[in-house]
Amino acid sequence: MEAVVPKLPLFNFLNPNSTAVRRFSCSSSSLSPSVLVSADSKSVSLGHITRPDFPILHQEVNGKKLVYLDNAATSQKPVAVIKALQNYYEAYNSNVHRGIHYLSAKATDEYELARKKVAAFINASDSREIVFTRNATEGINLVAYSWGLTNLKPGDEIILTIAEHHSAIVPWQLVSQKTGAILKFLNLNDDEIPDLDKLKEMLSRKTKLVVTHHVSNTLASVLPIEEIVHWAHDVGAKVLVDACQSVPHMVVDVQGLDADFLVASSHKMCGPTGIGFLYGKSDLLSAMPPFLGGGEMISDVFLDHSTYAEPPSRFEAGTPAIGEAIGLGAAIDYLSAIGMQRIHEYEIELATYLYENLLSVPNVRIYGPKPSENVHRAALCSFNVENIHPTDVATILDQQHGVAIRSGHHCAQPLHRYLGVNASARASLYFYNTKGDVDDFIQALNETVNFFDMFR
Ligand SMILES: Cc1ncc(COP(=O)(O)O)c(C=O)c1O
Repeated sequence: MEAVVPKLPLFNFLNPNSTAVRRFSCSSSSLSPSVLVSADSKSVSLGHITRPDFPILHQEVNGKKLVYLDNAATSQKPVAVIKALQNYYEAYNSNVHRGIHYLSAKATDEYELARKKVAAFINASDSREIVFTRNATEGINLVAYSWGLTNLKPGDEIILTIAEHHSAIVPWQLVSQKTGAILKFLNLNDDEIPDLDKLKEMLSRKTKLVVTHHVSNTLASVLPIEEIVHWAHDVGAKVLVDACQSVPHMVVDVQGLDADFLVASSHKMCGPTGIGFLYGKSDLLSAMPPFLGGGEMISDVFLDHSTYAEPPSRFEAGTPAIGEAIGLGAAIDYLSAIGMQRIHEYEIELATYLYENLLSVPNVRIYGPKPSENVHRAALCSFNVENIHPTDVATILDQQHGVAIRSGHHCAQPLHRYLGVNASARASLYFYNTKGDVDDFIQALNETVNFFDMFR
């Protein structure tokens, strides 16, 4: 059990119970996270320090205190991000790139500043390597339709892991149907992580692309992307990294990884929905044709043909999600102020605590690797309780205990089939969760299991 925390640190954000309206200046970066103003920031857990920044967490659902453990699906938003969005609409809402008036110039500056923040956050060498997309899914589709349709021929091979999210599988099925490229899937080893020894055997000169997650949204495993990229590059293949579950939780350095493409979604990293990004090496992006046509992606339009802008504009057709991009920039400021390494270290602690406590619940099967000195799991567990449907578990946890977890296939049906189940329950944590949240979840799960045992 977690030690009792003396008192919550002071925080300088909107009290969730207050109805007072506060005015904010145009600069979202003036809103720092509570971690920066907390006197107790060393002795109190990161979860306790940052919780006050998230108004949504301070409520009851179904008559119980909300315990939000569905962060792998989407994260909650700190006041700094909510206010950045509000500020954009209140103070300088305008279309970008097209106007010479003050509001348009301001919106354009902030939108492009957000791109620079993303680039710095993942250590891209140039912000032109960052394409704003609707989400990670659209980023993968962009690579599939633009790079894939141009570069793949019949018989070329794409290697994916069996643990990929549907968003990283389906676009390649569609493109392989059009090009004749072949999809090959890497299975799991006995530790329930993708079998990297097998990957080395599968790679050949026929391999044109490896599509892999960085952190699995179901197995909680963390893959050594640097090595995978190295092996793939040795046979001349490109690598697309699905970093949806890593970018929000750890330091990700695209130059260090040497990944060719990488995608992530804002809504999983404290930012708004409706915006994500694709990182692509500049030589690759420059050689790729447009994905969608119209708006900012043109250079010149004639009646019978058009010429196209340089990346990233070439891939941002139509009015982009301006406020959302600015909100993502505010989320990056917020995360950076805490520090991604600090978030990662705290989440490793939470991950072990969650895993060990969940194992103590009778008849629970947790998927993915066992944590050890060498194996770090992400702070999530997909699990099943023998003879109880995961949706029943999730329903009782929500309705009787106010604990929000997910049940289903987590958009990883092939993986679930491979594991021999249709569905699982999943509890996933973020840095604003505490060990107390895990305790509440485990107690609620034990009571849920006891409840179902009464009918056996
Ligand atoms: C590993 C992984 N990849 C891709 C996605 C798709 O993200 P989005 O729906 O934001 O495009 C998710 C979202 O759950 C994910 O967890």
